[in-house]
Amino acid sequence: MKVDMDKLVSLCKRRGFIFQSSEIYGGLSACWDYGPLGVELKRNIKEMWWRDMVRERDDMVGLDSSVLMHRAVWSASGHEEGFSDPLMECKACHRRWRADDTKDGRCPDCGGELTEPRMFNLMFKTFFGPVEEDAAVIYLRPETAQGIFVNFANVVDTARKKLPFGIAQIGKAFRNEITTGNFIFRCREFEMMEIEFFVKPDTAGEWFSYWLEERQNWYIKLGINKENLRLHQHGEEELAHYARVCYDIDYLFPMGWSELEGIADRGDFDLAQHAKHSGKDLSYFDPDSGERFMPYVIEPSAGVDRAALAFLVDAYDEEPDKNEIRVLLRLHPDLAPVKVAVLPLSRNETLVPMAKDVYASVRKCFTAQYDDAQSIGRRYRRQDEIGTPLAVTIDFQSLEDSQVTIRERDSMKQIRVPVAELTRTLELKLSGEPLEVLPPGGKYWLGFEG
Ligand code: GAP
Repeated sequence: MKVDMDKLVSLCKRRGFIFQSSEIYGGLSACWDYGPLGVELKRNIKEMWWRDMVRERDDMVGLDSSVLMHRAVWSASGHEEGFSDPLMECKACHRRWRADDTKDGRCPDCGGELTEPRMFNLMFKTFFGPVEEDAAVIYLRPETAQGIFVNFANVVDTARKKLPFGIAQIGKAFRNEITTGNFIFRCREFEMMEIEFFVKPDTAGEWFSYWLEERQNWYIKLGINKENLRLHQHGEEELAHYARVCYDIDYLFPMGWSELEGIADRGDFDLAQHAKHSGKDLSYFDPDSGERFMPYVIEPSAGVDRAALAFLVDAYDEEPDKNEIRVLLRLHPDLAPVKVAVLPLSRNETLVPMAKDVYASVRKCFTAQYDDAQSIGRRYRRQDEIGTPLAVTIDFQSLEDSQVTIRERDSMKQIRVPVAELTRTLELKLSGEPLEVLPPGGKYWLGFEG
């Protein structure tokens, strides 16, 4: 089901996923704060990326470089000169637009005439140290990639990696975007997950295809419907100044197909530029062939916030439930902010000690939430709406037979399991085992839905 953006924004605010930055002062446009559930979702996305792209691969190492870098980095990389968008201003209402967001030279808001486009640099400027003068100008990084390029020689010298290998980094980036909107799609402060994968020049084509496939599969593995993904190749006029070839992985967002991640062949542009500007040798010596050359780079570059938006949009669902509508986020268990909800049937004092014990053991293994407010049905709905895959219910029968009920978010099916088997069963369920696979002593209640 396709959700409209307003509904999603409202759910995100109501349930504590995402708030407008500085809201009590009227808000700061295109800046967002992640609330108690949003921060868990975002951490999970980053954790899964790091697990799949770094920890489980032999040909990747990580890096965490600083946001503030020498100004020369941005001059060498071409960002000072060329990281700009064409900006047009409406002569009537004075709103400013990215030229490619306008049609026929008219303001999309009021229809007024627009000025000729002029280039506007997207990097945020600030001053380094206590003196506010031109010599102290420094930028907030607009991409994490340059931190990787300037550390290429450090990593080669210390990590004992041979080509092909990649350096991966997750971190904040800042862009003074002209046109914003569409919630967290285009922010002025956002997080990136970037890989610079260094290869022999004559293998760049193969590696480009490999990463194109690999990155689409990553989204699909984590629950994105593959019908909602497509590739878009950049034409000459769209290519960034550093790219030889570039494809976007587009996602069908509520406002239409838009870029989710970019995969670029950057050739040796960055290493060659930094070698030239710094005077340092950034070439690679291949011990197998005895050759020295400048590696080419394939760059899969993803936005954490944009990925979060795609996962939320894809997971949103509504279905009829008796006389109501059940709203649920069918998030992949690896991404769900809360994995297990622990719900005593009521606040009855005989139930509470057992429920608290169960909660104490569950939260040691999974991100868990204890909820005893309102009816059990309302509590299931609350958990459905935030995407919690499993709920454990403790009832009066549990006091007698030391068994509890596990209820699945998507199917609403329930099984009864001995408390002694609970954490192991939850672990199996979260890793995708069907609910029908019972632990010893468990019981599957067909047709008993809640
Ligand atoms: N180093 C390559 C690079 O920066 P990009 O296409 O400009 O390439 C890569 O950005 C990804 O970063 C995008 O596909 C998107 O997911 C994310 N991104 C870029 N600008 C963004 C913004 N203003 N807000 C949120 N995410 C953004």
